[in-house]
Amino acid sequence: MPWHPHLWHPTTQVATSPEPLQVRSARGSEVELSDGRRLIDAISSWWVTLHGHAEPAIAAAIARQAQQLEQVIFANFSHEPAEQLATRLSALTGLQRLFFSDNGSTAVEVALKIAWQWWRNQGSERHQVIAFEGAYHGDTFGAMALGERSLFTDPYEPLLFEVARVAWPHSHWGDEAVEQREQHALRQLDQALETPTAAVILEPLIQGASGMRVVRPGFLRAVAERVRAAGALLIADEVFTGFGRTGDLFACRRAGIQPDLMALSKGLTGGFLPMGVTMASERLYQGFISERPEATFFHGHSFTANPLGCAAALASLDLLQANPERFQQFEGRHTPLLEELAAHPLVRRPRCVGTMAAFDVEAGQASYLNPVGKQIQRHCLQQGVYLRPLGHVVYLLPPLGISEDQLQRCYAAVRLALDTLVPG
Ligand SMILES: Cc1ncc(COP(=O)(O)O)c(C=O)c1O
Repeated sequence: MPWHPHLWHPTTQVATSPEPLQVRSARGSEVELSDGRRLIDAISSWWVTLHGHAEPAIAAAIARQAQQLEQVIFANFSHEPAEQLATRLSALTGLQRLFFSDNGSTAVEVALKIAWQWWRNQGSERHQVIAFEGAYHGDTFGAMALGERSLFTDPYEPLLFEVARVAWPHSHWGDEAVEQREQHALRQLDQALETPTAAVILEPLIQGASGMRVVRPGFLRAVAERVRAAGALLIADEVFTGFGRTGDLFACRRAGIQPDLMALSKGLTGGFLPMGVTMASERLYQGFISERPEATFFHGHSFTANPLGCAAALASLDLLQANPERFQQFEGRHTPLLEELAAHPLVRRPRCVGTMAAFDVEAGQASYLNPVGKQIQRHCLQQGVYLRPLGHVVYLLPPLGISEDQLQRCYAAVRLALDTLVPG
């Protein structure tokens, strides 16, 4: 399909990218193209398609809700789908208050604004925010400022506020130097926390966009202890890791940490509708209740608590909770396949957490711009598998409902793609 004369695609350089593939429909783990070809969606369409495309229970829940209440302003009004979702997510996250927005970036913005204003409402002077090297929290300005400076953020550099940055001691199978790197990162954190700090933000267990960079749960517990001891707030950005992606419902649960704020989106609606939520502790919520108007959290989006999104999220939670083994056992499905692939001469630093399996390709620079990712993508497409490597980092993150045969086909496609790259 040629480029459409009136569309602008995300993170796409038209001058050097192939034209987009025209999709006609999608079901389960496959998308069907208008020319009849079928592709396995091995990355869950940018990590959102949780159970599978067109999951019937979610589609039905949205259809029912659309006939009852499609949307209503959420200031002055409330409704049952929002209340049910808040009650359920509160029980699952240990955070009592839910604030709605529309996507992952806004869920992070809201978390940061709540943290910042909460301190201000107390009359406290904490002006430092700490984030980690390699962090990615979204593309809006606040989220960009929290993220690692990169090719993505360079044009806006003068507009981004400063944050203190701490090393992220990511690891992989057979990594023998990880403890040293963890100690180094914790020393940096200790030093940063000597300055009065409003909040520390992290992606628990896996930094997604910067290359599926996995840390050990013990490191996160050590970070959380230090943040708590310093009296700062801990923000967990679970936009990517939430809803079973890491083998537990939330990465924080798997790591054994309790944040003060949590940003969620992507898998929230099972990948059907754009919605973000920020979970906050009751302590933070109470810090905004006052006769003083300026203590109010003046933030709101037109589509706050969209009932269709809430209905989708509730149906998705039903599925997750009815079949926890689907996410709990996914790592066990990846492991033998990744072990086999790890023997390939071009595979470096294999790693796997829950539904995510990744490795680095030994080919040139470790960079998002390394063309090897696009080469692998092209080869896999020819074999009916859609991947979107992050430069030299190849990862699989399929929907939970992917069949064993489909999963094996993904690995076989990656192996063949790698074979074409072996010199000689
Ligand atoms: C950890 C994390 N936070 C925030 C975002 C931003 O989410 P969105 O693209 O929905 O704005 C992403 C997106 O990939 C993410 O991985």
